[in-house]
Amino acid sequence: MQSSLPRRAPALKSISVASSALAWWDRHRRALPWRAAAGEIADPYRVWLSEILLQQTTTAGAGPYFLEFLKRWPDVESLAAASLEEVMQAFAGLGYYSRARNLHACARVIAARGGKFPREEARLRELPGVGAYTAAAIAAIAFNAPAAPVDGNIARVVSRLVAFDVPIARNRDGLARAAAALVPTDRPGDFAQAMMDIGATICRPRNPDCPRCPLRSGCLAARTDSPDAYPPRLEKRARPTRVGAAFFARRADGAFLARRRPPRGLLGGTMELPGGEWGPGEFAEVGPQFAPFSTDWRRLPGAVEHVFTHFSLRLALFGAVVESAAPAPDGGVWIGEDEVASAGFSGLMRKAVETAQRLFVPPPDLERVLVRTRGKDRHDDDLDVEP
Ligand code: ADE
Ligand code: SF4
Repeated sequence: MQSSLPRRAPALKSISVASSALAWWDRHRRALPWRAAAGEIADPYRVWLSEILLQQTTTAGAGPYFLEFLKRWPDVESLAAASLEEVMQAFAGLGYYSRARNLHACARVIAARGGKFPREEARLRELPGVGAYTAAAIAAIAFNAPAAPVDGNIARVVSRLVAFDVPIARNRDGLARAAAALVPTDRPGDFAQAMMDIGATICRPRNPDCPRCPLRSGCLAARTDSPDAYPPRLEKRARPTRVGAAFFARRADGAFLARRRPPRGLLGGTMELPGGEWGPGEFAEVGPQFAPFSTDWRRLPGAVEHVFTHFSLRLALFGAVVESAAPAPDGGVWIGEDEVASAGFSGLMRKAVETAQRLFVPPPDLERVLVRTRGKDRHDDDLDVEP
């Protein structure tokens, strides 16, 4: 399959797409927390912050985080003055945690330059965490530059307008050119957001509402029986399942053992329950061999499941009671029962902790539980695995 972009620039059509989109936007734009009011000048800090949060997150999911960030760090200088740990914690639950590190690094770069974001797309792209899409979005929305950000919504709308018969992931260049050809010289920022909103509310992935669409007269897909056949979906690759174990070592006061993941890589820098690597294998074979220390681990019923981009995870949970005076093993910290929300757990680990707290009912006679929190010497006959 080959992309078939019309060679001549469809000048007249572009003007009508842009003016129709802008007229629609003026009446139907979504009220989103990061948006400047109509006619107001956008604050580059807010635009940048929102675009980073929106990179892998829906508008509904990103909204509360955006407001919380803004309350805590109203400008780029205050964000730059925060510690990385504070930023990581504020990101907890959002996923894709490399964004937090980049956000913090970028804030420091901008603050060191006097707090001013560059206006040009190419200069924006040099900033940590700012890729092609984000640079174009900031240039257009914050600086009204004639840039053409192509996010998922815009890619879908453009694919339908020109009836691209190619999956989005295989058509990045074609989409970039087609989107660029539509950008008006007047109000490119509003145009980009209009296209996002049309994609989110009218030209939805399934059941696009063509009769209500302001772009209908210039849309090739709308002339077919099934506009939602564009763009074709990439054939799905099966998502492998990995298995792992997480260990809930609970003190009598309710505090439990946690540790911080390495700064880079999957869920980098977030807090977690101790456990082993997550790998392929049989779920039934995941056991206390991955425990942080040996004790009377109880297998909790069920599993915590989570879907990552490239794999699904099934996590077995184990619980044990430890004595309250027990020191945390190397790299571990005790997290109080009421600190779960603020400790910086990922969404997955929040779920694991909450499940363990619910399911792990300590044996009534704590005195008789054998506890060795620091034994490096593991004996397989310590293991108490219930299937
Ligand atoms: N998705 C990414 N950026 C957005 C924005 N500025 N408005 C709405 N949705 C978006
Ligand atoms: Fe999407 Fe239909 Fe509008 Fe075309 S007319 S852009 S397919 S909603």
